[in-house]
Amino acid sequence: MGRADSLRHKMNDLHDSLPANPIAKLERWLAEARQRRDTPNSNAMCLATVDQQKGELMPSARVVLCKQVDTESGFIVFFTNYDSRKAAELEQNPVAAATFHWDALGRQIRLEGRVVKSPASESDAYFASRARGSQLGAWASDQSQPIASRVALLQQLDKVTERFADTETIPRPPHWGGYRLWVSAAEIWIEGDHRVHDRARWVRTLGVDDHGDVHPDDWTVVRLQP
Ligand SMILES: Cc1cc2nc3c(=O)[nH]c(=O)nc-3n(C[C@H](O)[C@H](O)[C@H](O)COP(=O)(O)O)c2cc1C
Repeated sequence: MGRADSLRHKMNDLHDSLPANPIAKLERWLAEARQRRDTPNSNAMCLATVDQQKGELMPSARVVLCKQVDTESGFIVFFTNYDSRKAAELEQNPVAAATFHWDALGRQIRLEGRVVKSPASESDAYFASRARGSQLGAWASDQSQPIASRVALLQQLDKVTERFADTETIPRPPHWGGYRLWVSAAEIWIEGDHRVHDRARWVRTLGVDDHGDVHPDDWTVVRLQP
């Protein structure tokens, strides 16, 4: 067994015990990956949404960054443009799947669930924590819309840079903010020798009340064949 393999075996502890809450595992694995040099963009996840135009269901996927994990409630948060393609698809069909993969660790986590917009106060707080350049970028880009040229895009950026030149605290654009993905299914995958991987899938029901608040049931878990 090589050094990397033996490290994986030490770190990957799903074999014997399945945790009650898979989101706790996600939080821990994110923290571990963040500390390593061989897992850049360790919070990147492939986010799939569903387009429902013309009656046909068509998945679309892109990478976004997971910026928060609420282990107790069981949701994760990503930030994006509320006028983007993914946002339009979430408007039509507020469900998504997200996949994390840390190749150097032989680990994958898949999530599925219901998506709701983050409270405005949380989006404000996160936007305020971003670098000024990223804040200007959020104002400058009509994400997912066509533009004539790269030069035209840079002109849009120049315009907002000028507009906010004398503004110390740039406000959050109304078209930019967070989404919470409330997890109703989670699958943990650990690479095993000879492709005998370790898999387990947790599911729970998410109740939604009249105010749109989500109330999750308890998790149940089954081990899956690789
Ligand atoms: C590593 C990486 C991280 C990214 N993070 C984000 C992100 O956090 N939010 C975001 O809106 N787009 C992010 N993007 C860009 C998206 O992949 C995508 O191009 C963009 O959100 C538009 O997607 P849409 O047209 O499907 O809405 C990231 C791309 C990469 C490669």
